[in-house]
Amino acid sequence: MTPVGVIGLGIESSCDETSVALIRNGSECLANLVHSQIEQHAPFRGVVPEIASRAHLEKINTLYDRALVEAGLSTEQLEYVSVSVRPGLVGSLMVGAQFAKSFALVTGRPIIGVDHLEAHLYAPCLEGHRPEFPFLGLLLSGGNSAIFMVHGPGQLELLADTLDDACGEAFDKAAAILGLPFPGGPHVERAAAGFHPEASHRRLFPKLLRHRGDAPPAFSFSGIKTALLRAVQDGSHPVELLAWDFQDTVFELVERVLLRLVQTTGITRVVASGGVLANQTLRVRLEKLARESGFALVYPRSRLLCTDNAAMIGALGYFLRNTAFQFRDLSFDVSSKRYLPPARPSDSLRP
Ligand code: KG4
Repeated sequence: MTPVGVIGLGIESSCDETSVALIRNGSECLANLVHSQIEQHAPFRGVVPEIASRAHLEKINTLYDRALVEAGLSTEQLEYVSVSVRPGLVGSLMVGAQFAKSFALVTGRPIIGVDHLEAHLYAPCLEGHRPEFPFLGLLLSGGNSAIFMVHGPGQLELLADTLDDACGEAFDKAAAILGLPFPGGPHVERAAAGFHPEASHRRLFPKLLRHRGDAPPAFSFSGIKTALLRAVQDGSHPVELLAWDFQDTVFELVERVLLRLVQTTGITRVVASGGVLANQTLRVRLEKLARESGFALVYPRSRLLCTDNAAMIGALGYFLRNTAFQFRDLSFDVSSKRYLPPARPSDSLRP
């Protein structure tokens, strides 16, 4: 039987998750299989590129077969393939790209190369949110922390970046300092939940610096991490309090940068995504900020859709069909760098 709608295949292998998804009309997830390599990398407290590429190679074919079975589909019913082509570990990206190229070669279907970071901002499409442009895209993950103005599919403008660590990376390093396992985010969150501050509680860490009016808005997490290290060396504070103070400071900074950009751009639609959005405290804080500051906030409710997954790659691929992101031949390459088109003449950063 012919399935109704356009069904696409999404492939993700940019870092330490191998994922294959089948998506209908860019909005419905028919299968989204994710194989995490965390256990293989945990002893090294970080992702080892060589191990990652090999693990992707081992898993990708099986995941594809399983996705078809789960969705009750066959290869002939898939109408396009979209694949993460940047940014990420090159050896890892190549595994996914090679798989997608083989699929395109065998089936003759179009192949679309997507930016993994941009795809995170399309994850809410799989929960019924059609993107409305322009919107501000807040991305907080293990490798990146940024805010984009999203003018349309494939049209990103970078408004704020991190000057040092990514937000998730800061959580991972904080966990190491606190003696908690890798990846650190969930463990720091759990430890922080064990501290119940009194109204009079004052954070141990220095206050965040005020934003200088003329400086572009930016994240910077390394100072907070150093403050944590000092507090730990001090030796007299429980892990729960340290984790709470760290998390509270990081999220205050996130809120500040986001709010500033909402105010300066006048854009009142925000899509937030990336692994750190799995954090319940952050979700609650951003929702409160949105209510109080009058912007609409969307983020993936499913934690699986916050972290790396192929469903979001398949969803963005749907919107990028028949654009310059659909490759005309199979000689394209992958890249460790993110896609940043030339800045559009735009008034997004009005003073
Ligand atoms: O988006 P993601 O899956 O991929 C990479 O960029 O690799 O994000 C992973 C990051 C890790 O740094 C992890 O510590 C962080 O997201 N993370 C969290 C939480 N869950 C995952 N950070 C804070 N709180 C969490 N609950």
